[in-house]
Amino acid sequence: MNDKQKVAVHVANLIEQGMVVGLGTGSTANYFIEHLAKRRQEEGLDVTAVASSVVSTIKAQQLGLPLLAIEHISQLDLYVDGADEVTLGMSLLKGRGFDLVKEKLLAKASEQFYVMVDNEKVVSRIGEKFPIPVEVTPFAWKMVLRSLQQIGGDGDLRQTSNGDGLAITSHGSLVLDMTFDSSLAADELNAELNTIPGIVEHGIFHYLATDIFVANQGEIEHLDSPQ
Ligand code: 5RP
Repeated sequence: MNDKQKVAVHVANLIEQGMVVGLGTGSTANYFIEHLAKRRQEEGLDVTAVASSVVSTIKAQQLGLPLLAIEHISQLDLYVDGADEVTLGMSLLKGRGFDLVKEKLLAKASEQFYVMVDNEKVVSRIGEKFPIPVEVTPFAWKMVLRSLQQIGGDGDLRQTSNGDGLAITSHGSLVLDMTFDSSLAADELNAELNTIPGIVEHGIFHYLATDIFVANQGEIEHLDSPQ
């Protein structure tokens, strides 16, 4: 079992009877969905899921997990997802995928938000390894880019993987992948990005995670928020 599987199985084993659980998106989230479905089948775990993406919806359906549509709920017990970067101060970077909007909504609407990562994702500063994805309303992208440049950002529109078009998120937005001066802390950047019109959502998840589980060569470390 690799570290992503290990941490996903560990977190799936923490799910309790009767919970409504949000399903994240990505390879670690997929392992979590698989083990959750296994527990439902083998142990009769009573669980209802809410998916953050088409991919996690399909995965959950294939494995027989009962699903609620996101538009039918206002809150849930727990959201479980991976991340691209985490800091020991509990900030996250997400959104290398295309499902940021639902992911952040579910994280915010949950009593608890469990994050599953391997040790490679632990950084000292958000934005250390990856650019920060900023989802923008398509007609506003140039205005948003200028606003981001004014606060020291540098970046451009995300291209499709074969480079022949622009990437479109599942929400129908374009994405600006941005780097910022390393002196801008995640909380400052989060506050700045939250005020720029035309930004639909961005990849900094600040003060949302309640628990982060880090797998390191088979061992699981648990970080929880002081709040
Ligand atoms: C998608 C995400 C993913 O959780 C993140 O990219 C981690 O993916 P993986 O588990 O495949 O490493 O934020 O928007």
